[in-house]
Amino acid sequence: MTDNAPMHPILAEIEALLTGKAEGRYGLSAVNQRQHALQCAWLAEKDGHGDALIAAALLHDIGHMVHDLGEDPASEGVDDRHEELGQAWLAAHFGPEVTEPVRLHVAAKRYLCAVEPDYFARLAPDSVKSLALQGGPMNAEEVTAFEANPMFREAVQLRRYDEQAKVKDLPTPPVSHFLPAVARCLRG
Ligand SMILES: [Fe+2]
Ligand SMILES: [Fe+2]
Repeated sequence: MTDNAPMHPILAEIEALLTGKAEGRYGLSAVNQRQHALQCAWLAEKDGHGDALIAAALLHDIGHMVHDLGEDPASEGVDDRHEELGQAWLAAHFGPEVTEPVRLHVAAKRYLCAVEPDYFARLAPDSVKSLALQGGPMNAEEVTAFEANPMFREAVQLRRYDEQAKVKDLPTPPVSHFLPAVARCLRG
């Protein structure tokens, strides 16, 4: 993107959400929604992932920003289904390589709690709290069904970044750094 080219409306909206409406705290952690999104995308980029996973990482919690349930509905005992809201919001503009890891990132937490015995013990307190609202660890049938999804590995990788992306005051590139990767994922 150059400064002269008009920005696609969805990119402008994403930038506005992440720079404007993302001051809210991320659950119980020491970062806000913007810092969480940026840390997540930065982890994906530093690990050498392609545009789709970087975009998915940046946008995985956009569902929290497109509803009016407040900043931390989990603390009120409400599961905001933000993974589905986010997927629905993104689906008009992005393909499944972006929207599926977003939709599945909560399921991936439930999956990892089922298949990795120490995963639950390492969860941050806010993740433990929301896990209960989200249905707890998967059962065996749910694990099998989850592994049948062609994007389940990407969703699991995104979920690992999600859990790591809560570091207070960690410097990252700004939102604008990641928008070209998001732009390359736009369909048609
Ligand atoms: Fe999330
Ligand atoms: Fe997240």
